[in-house]
Amino acid sequence: MMNPRHFITLFDLSSEEFRTLIQRAIQLKTERNIDYQPLKGKVLAMIFEKSSTRTRISFETGMAQFGGTALFLSPRDTQLGRGEPLEDSARVISSMVDGIMLRTHLHQTVVTFAEHSRVPVINGLTDIYHPCQLLADMQTYVELRGDIAGKTVAWVGDGNNMCHTYIQAAMVLDFKLNIACPKNYSPDASIVAAAGNRIQFFDTPNAAAKNADLIVTDVWASMGQEQEQSLRVTAFKEYQITQTTMDAANPDALFMHCLPAHRGEEASAEVIDGAQSVIFQEAENRLHAQKALLELLLCPNHTKITSTLL
Ligand code: CP
Ligand code: NVA
Repeated sequence: MMNPRHFITLFDLSSEEFRTLIQRAIQLKTERNIDYQPLKGKVLAMIFEKSSTRTRISFETGMAQFGGTALFLSPRDTQLGRGEPLEDSARVISSMVDGIMLRTHLHQTVVTFAEHSRVPVINGLTDIYHPCQLLADMQTYVELRGDIAGKTVAWVGDGNNMCHTYIQAAMVLDFKLNIACPKNYSPDASIVAAAGNRIQFFDTPNAAAKNADLIVTDVWASMGQEQEQSLRVTAFKEYQITQTTMDAANPDALFMHCLPAHRGEEASAEVIDGAQSVIFQEAENRLHAQKALLELLLCPNHTKITSTLL
């Protein structure tokens, strides 16, 4: 493959492609045919610098269901952890497999890998973005409420990788994003600037939740920030999503969280386990959305894939 197609951020998809991918994910979920194995004989390498439950299991299961194989690679057990250059590693690994998924600390690691890979590279979470999660989140919203265009989403909590990816999703899928973050925990200014007036900042979770159709939060300390946990608990204490926050939103608003969640920190147990919470549907959709993504990136004939193939 000379110029492989990568999935590094949501900007690698057009609005139309994103919507088609969601529809395809829903179809793969609802009309599963175990004989449909478009990735038979193909291999996905998965490099994890950080822990994972959902991302690892969904990619590994998705590859297996499509007739292919996934390799779990940790830097500790490969030469990556002993300083082999990323450029060399990308050339070597991509000469043997059909796709590479990476979960890394630095976003630049995924970018460098993609620059030197001859097969598609997928971002499985970096310090800046988590695009695979948004595929599942948006699938979940569409399943339950229809198209998200013109709706309002409230992001409450840390201006982290998930927040940045919601900002991009707002631009690609054309929804409004209300953001409430504690002082000094705002999202990256350049990512915010690119979104223009599609996003608006608020001082409190309840103000951000007003008129929202979807409320989203995430952990207060992301992977790699464990040593800041106690500092962050103090800084974020007014930013917990409670039933009061949910009640400030539209009556049919949904609650999402990429998981893992901490009940009593970023959201109350009442909200996480409440009637408006769709967190487990959201988690399951990682599998279906990523199968649609794998099909798009790894099946040369993906444009011909229609419902008749299922
Ligand atoms: N939401 C998410 O990416 O979960 P994991 O860290 O378990 O992969
Ligand atoms: N913001 C979190 C997301 C985990 C899926 C982290 O980066 O740890």
